[in-house]
Amino acid sequence: MSNERLLEGRLAVVTGGGRGIGAAIADRLAAAGARVAVLGRDRDELMKRARALTDEHGVEAKFMACDVADEDAVARAFDGIRRTMGDPHILVNNAGQSAGVAFTETTRETWDRMIAVNLTGTFLCTQQVLPAMLSAGAGRVINIASTAGLKGYSHTAAYCAAKHGVIGMTRSLAMETAKKGITVNAVCPGYTDTDMAASAIRTLVDAGRTEEDARKAITRVMPIGRLIRPEEVASAVLWLCSDDAASVTGQSIAVAGGEVM
Ligand code: NAI
Repeated sequence: MSNERLLEGRLAVVTGGGRGIGAAIADRLAAAGARVAVLGRDRDELMKRARALTDEHGVEAKFMACDVADEDAVARAFDGIRRTMGDPHILVNNAGQSAGVAFTETTRETWDRMIAVNLTGTFLCTQQVLPAMLSAGAGRVINIASTAGLKGYSHTAAYCAAKHGVIGMTRSLAMETAKKGITVNAVCPGYTDTDMAASAIRTLVDAGRTEEDARKAITRVMPIGRLIRPEEVASAVLWLCSDDAASVTGQSIAVAGGEVM
């Protein structure tokens, strides 16, 4: 798919859009002509990202600071987006956190945080955009889940449970909206070269491995033999936003170098 401005004028909201996979997605959508609102916790990071989107791609870009797990803050952030930019045509639920911890050591706090950020955050943000998408008879919701939404991994029960939940919600909402011009899909990255993968590597180093060993342990599970690049995840998202993908809904598309099939 060429990078022509196929999303010219559409408004996309990308949660966790300040860095990592979310920043790559915001960049790819802006390059395709979309106006973009990046939403997340780190105001400085978001402000820089929004500025870069406008400077590099000549599109309107704004930022809203909020915790996606805080219902009131989410409502305020989306009110701000609607007031200043209009109704979103595209929502990318990307904000997320992981926790690498043994099941017996998983505290209630960790469990609740994994569900709140990864699953409830996706629910809250989607509720904010769906009414206008239903009225317009058009929309795209793309949830950045994970291969951890498709299979189990050791030491990640809470994260895996949340990401499996995201995929369940994706499938169910896709059924509800299939006749309404709205598609709802999940993109499931494997280990991707961002701060999150770096922290997974750090956890192994803290447990006594060398940096090189830790990297190898992570890439060993990936048939492609390397980490996924954030831009590769962003390309899948762009395609799902395009008119070419109008009949693709309820899917969980792995961008994982062959790790799941
Ligand atoms: P990252 O840690 O580099 O970026 C996560 C972004 O989400 C940051 O901008 C952060 O501020 C934001 N965020 C976190 N908690 C938030 C909250 N409560 N409210 C608002 N914003 C919040 O992580 P990365 O790798 O870019 O991850 C993006 C998504 O991709 C996540 O949903 C993650 O679970 C998923 N993913 C990542 C993989 C990886 O190996 N990096 C693999 C599979 C899925």
